[in-house]
Amino acid sequence: MAEEKFDLLVVNGETGSAKLDVGVRQGRIVALSPNLNRNVDRVIDASGKLVLPGFIDAHTHMGIPIMNTHSIDDFESGSIAAAFGGVTCIIDFTVQEKGQSLRESVEVRLKRAERCHVDYALHVNITDQPEKRLSEIPSIIADGFTAFKAFSTYRQSGMMITWDEFRKVLQQIHGHGGLLCLHAEDNDLVEALTAEHLEVGRKTAIFHARSRPPEAEAKAVARAAEIAGELRAALYIVHVSSRAGLEAGLNARARGVKIYLETCPQYLVLDEEFYLRNNGHRWITTPPLRTKEDCAALWKAISDDQVDVVATDHCPFTLQQKDVGRDAFHLTPNGLPGVETLFSLLYTYGVKTGRISLQQLVRVLAENPARIFGLSDRKGALRVGADADVVIWNPEVSQTISASRLHSKADWSPYEGMAIAGKLDYTILRGQVLVQGDEFVGREISGKSQRAAFSKES
Ligand code: URP
Ligand code: ZN
Ligand code: ZN
Repeated sequence: MAEEKFDLLVVNGETGSAKLDVGVRQGRIVALSPNLNRNVDRVIDASGKLVLPGFIDAHTHMGIPIMNTHSIDDFESGSIAAAFGGVTCIIDFTVQEKGQSLRESVEVRLKRAERCHVDYALHVNITDQPEKRLSEIPSIIADGFTAFKAFSTYRQSGMMITWDEFRKVLQQIHGHGGLLCLHAEDNDLVEALTAEHLEVGRKTAIFHARSRPPEAEAKAVARAAEIAGELRAALYIVHVSSRAGLEAGLNARARGVKIYLETCPQYLVLDEEFYLRNNGHRWITTPPLRTKEDCAALWKAISDDQVDVVATDHCPFTLQQKDVGRDAFHLTPNGLPGVETLFSLLYTYGVKTGRISLQQLVRVLAENPARIFGLSDRKGALRVGADADVVIWNPEVSQTISASRLHSKADWSPYEGMAIAGKLDYTILRGQVLVQGDEFVGREISGKSQRAAFSKES
């Protein structure tokens, strides 16, 4: 029998449960077993290192308009940061301008994403005239854009849809095999509390958290889940931040509603005490950071396999952009950088502390987002036939997070000074080495647009 020939071979890596060689040919994994033959152009020795599937960050915002500015990473800079974090596929969002069709919003965003160094997919935002857009949904889904996103808040920014509109949009998406994602906060409660605090001059960062309490999240999750239950439609809640929001989702699930829950590193390793700092406004993100008890509840939910996805909501701003809102929480552009620190934070504060297993981490960062968003025929696992998206992580060294060594255009990190157990050694995208140690070695822009391979499992 002819000897198997590989373009690239990763040898002696640990998956957490086994020692493995990964044979790559033409961008795909073609062999997986201990001791593959070494007759190959390039061998990477991963002895003593973890070899994991490339991560999928299912929630990023590259260069989106927020308040009077834009999140500072475009697809190019944000995807380099992603690659340095072992993220080989991001799922970003379209931005629907006023009066714009969904189709046009997809095309415009796809054009922007052409500068992406890692693979990318898009969720389709429905923020403008949702009822008028219903007829577009089937063909968008048929083209492989199967996940949509709506907001139950941000009325003043013109992004909110009403609960009536939500019902119609969900019904249409579900009816054609798609999946609706929801930013869930009860807008009436948020607006009332915001007004109450601003009226008496309570403008410091902690009042961002007080204006958007866990009850606002829980109320919107419960309402959305009730509608999803009536329609027998699946629903995906983005960035669950609180115990109350989580419980609302889990209660619905216990009643038989198919509800996917996503959380983010910031709700696991940061808490609202950051808002009490002098420069606390820099941590303003929506939903806000919560209490340590909320963090603990979310960790437990990951360890109980109740959270489906951890994604970053990467939406970075420079200090200069953030500092516009130094004296007023409602004027601070909301969002945090995170795509580069996704795995390292979860590995350090989840796996190394024993809160979750490495297998659970791989599930929420790779397997589950690939499955939920229709990419699992090629992404999300080290499997023969899958894209050779591979991360090699050296668990033996330690480092400290410093914005000066990160690659986002944000000139600060909300995680500055936090210890990290390990260091990224390689990020490989479809067989091509993008990152080797501290160097970005991707030859050219190599990210490819990814569409869902099948209609969603609603
Ligand atoms: O504050 C945040 N998270 N900004 C990005 C937009 C969103 O709500 O996800
Ligand atoms: Zn959101
Ligand atoms: Zn977001």
